[in-house]
Amino acid sequence: MPQTFDLLLRGGAVVDHNGVGLRDIGVTAGKIAAIGQLGGASAAETIEVSGLTILPGVIDTQVHFREPGLTHKEDLETGSRAAVLGGVTAVFEMPNTNPLTTSAEALADKVSRAHHRMHCDFAFWVGGTADNVDQIPELERLPGAAGIKVFMGSSTGSLLVEDDAGVEAILRQTRRRAAFHSEDEPRLNERKHLRVENDPASHPVWRDEIAALKSTQRLIRIARSCGALVHVLHVSTGEEIEFLAGHKDLASVEVTPHHLTLSADDYARLGTKLQMNPPVRDKRHRETIWRGVAESVADILGSDHAPHTLEEKAKPYPQSPSGMTGVQTLVPIMLDHVAAGRLTIERFVDLTSAGPARLFGIAGKGRIAVGYDADFTIVDLKREAVIEDRWIGSRCGWTPYDGKHVTGWPVGTIVRGARVMWEGEIAAPATGEAVRFWQALG
Ligand code: DOR
Repeated sequence: MPQTFDLLLRGGAVVDHNGVGLRDIGVTAGKIAAIGQLGGASAAETIEVSGLTILPGVIDTQVHFREPGLTHKEDLETGSRAAVLGGVTAVFEMPNTNPLTTSAEALADKVSRAHHRMHCDFAFWVGGTADNVDQIPELERLPGAAGIKVFMGSSTGSLLVEDDAGVEAILRQTRRRAAFHSEDEPRLNERKHLRVENDPASHPVWRDEIAALKSTQRLIRIARSCGALVHVLHVSTGEEIEFLAGHKDLASVEVTPHHLTLSADDYARLGTKLQMNPPVRDKRHRETIWRGVAESVADILGSDHAPHTLEEKAKPYPQSPSGMTGVQTLVPIMLDHVAAGRLTIERFVDLTSAGPARLFGIAGKGRIAVGYDADFTIVDLKREAVIEDRWIGSRCGWTPYDGKHVTGWPVGTIVRGARVMWEGEIAAPATGEAVRFWQALG
């Protein structure tokens, strides 16, 4: 009996835990059903992918999609549209919306807004605060919860836990790995006078490397005393990479495409578009973060997609808000680094699929394996293209990479067996569902 599938991907170069090889993939009921030479098989839909490379679906574990409350910048539909246009199959969204995602009701509201309205799968970080600390054990296990996120330094929105006692109270409650925005709030307050009116290049002077390192050292000391697992988001300094290398037993590390690609030299060209927390810094940091990628101190890549409108970004610094888009450009920007020989395609997959699955215990995603969700990011490693604002699906419609020439491009996005994006077009109705996690099953 010839095998039959719902979907057959034929002739692609598949990157999985066996390495890179020409393999067909058969999909049934949204899950991977067979991998190998499936020449005799038939399927309801066959996609010829010879010449293309099939990666496990890219999971972006840090995005801000602004719904509810700030939907003039983005919403769950537009943010997820940008995600799948860029080859991303699942996102973890941040809690600094309005209302804040700090209660079971706020989380359930986001999950119901997202269900079958988002184009990719999703989970939501729940904000940890002094007020909800007693509820953390229940909150972090609710359907759709990615875990607990804490801001140790203030950024967009009002979430903040600036003192050691507050961080400790949260880490005494968490069982899952909690994520931290790590900048030392007292130091940020002391240094506010260093911001220079109309000069975004003073942003990294104000929010300096010591503010980031000091906060991360405090966090690790507290995590160790509590025996808690922590995840340090968007590491922006060489000093933190070197420090965190000594704490890999309990701390995981996220790095971002912008800290790996841009540098303080770009403030002159990009102005407030480059303004981000933690800041893009001088090249010395970028080089050490790359070493962190090469030596695997970095576990995962997150985009920290943080859209603000061009009008908002046009306000004079420091009234201008911090944040830039990134979910749609993560794949092409990083494939361009692959083409330039700065990382291998296997390392990219480790950072964007296997890494998130390992750190956060994602059930059935992050690997091309029979029985796993049929989530694929299909790319052309050789295609040359120019990233342009008009390609951006985000409501705010801009990218700091406008005009950048890249080699490597996302051609298709498949989520649980549905072809949701193909050659730059949304190709199926939105059927995004909540990601499931081992520690919250049942
Ligand atoms: O630059 C940033 N913008 N960093 C953050 O941590 C928050 C984000 C936002 O939500 O705008």
